[in-house]
Amino acid sequence: MAFFSGNKQADDQDETAKNVFRFELVQKNILITGANGQLGNEIRRISVRHEDNFKFFFTDVNELDITNREAVECYLKENGIKYIVNCAAYTAVDKAEDDMDLCYKINRDAVANLGIAAANNGAKVVHVSTDYVFDGTASSPYKETDTTNPQSVYGKSKQEGETILLETCPQSIIIRTAWLYSIFGNNFVKTMIKYGKERDELNVVADQAGTPTNAADLARTILKILDFSEANGFKAGIYHYSNEGVTSWYDFTLAIHKYAGISCKVNPIATDQYPVKAKRPQYSVLDKTKIKSVFNLSIPDWEDSLSICITEL
Ligand SMILES: NC(=O)c1ccc[n+]([C@@H]2O[C@H](COP(=O)([O-])OP(=O)(O)OC[C@H]3O[C@@H](n4cnc5c(N)ncnc54)[C@H](OP(=O)(O)O)[C@@H]3O)[C@@H](O)[C@H]2O)c1
Repeated sequence: MAFFSGNKQADDQDETAKNVFRFELVQKNILITGANGQLGNEIRRISVRHEDNFKFFFTDVNELDITNREAVECYLKENGIKYIVNCAAYTAVDKAEDDMDLCYKINRDAVANLGIAAANNGAKVVHVSTDYVFDGTASSPYKETDTTNPQSVYGKSKQEGETILLETCPQSIIIRTAWLYSIFGNNFVKTMIKYGKERDELNVVADQAGTPTNAADLARTILKILDFSEANGFKAGIYHYSNEGVTSWYDFTLAIHKYAGISCKVNPIATDQYPVKAKRPQYSVLDKTKIKSVFNLSIPDWEDSLSICITEL
């Protein structure tokens, strides 16, 4: 192809062809599964900023049920998918205790489907996991190398999902996150705003420590990691990500009410005063040193990110 001809019209055509050629060369196809959930919706919201590098395929269970192995394999082949970001999951932690089969089908078996199809089609996977893979007995932030010991069906299914993904597709990044909330879907922040407006008084657990994560921050991080991967190579492995800081559900609630302008009396209670089906980790703060240094990230403080979410709500 001649890129200089001395003929302006021909040069313009050549320039256009060159740009189309360049665009097709660099844009990689990304499949986002579970795209109607909190994280999937946050990725959708910012995806336009990453369209130079990526073409996005957003699917939820109606477009692509990840428990269907053939459907996943076909989807990857037909659409030339190079990255999968798995936002699909069974996330009803207490319900999972009585609904084990479906929970494992989505959080473990379907993750194997993604891993196998990715390996067959030369794609890479970014998968999201949870702080619930830990038992919560630690007293300092959990590192990626710390021993997992999940205490609930949900936690076990996610931990087995991690293992099977690394077996089926070693070229995977697993990001464990915690206490996720967003302007989309149902979550603790929205529930506390609703209860705070409806009730005069609320009891909230004060003896579990962790860090909330605004799904918008995690979405930005995942897309940054993919941009980074295009420029520097894919750094497979397990990473921890939440917002910075530490709090309890009780202090989190006080902050939610402060930013939402709600004056409801909140009483601190102990875990055993609020019985639930699935056991939660008492302490699930994640150490984020690895993700920050490998991908050169800075992470917002949980309270700053919470105030942004509540303003948007
Ligand atoms: N939420 C938290 O507090 C939290 C904490 C730590 C880690 N995580 C992890 O973070 C990730 C994202 O969580 P999230 O809160 O964004 O989840 P979410 O809001 O529950 O979204 C999950 C999405 O996956 C869809 N889905 C379920 N089964 C599917 C299937 N077979 N095929 C395709 N899609 C399917 C769901 O559809 P339906 O709604 O119709 O089922 C939903 O739209 C998950 O891996 C979760 O385990 C979450």
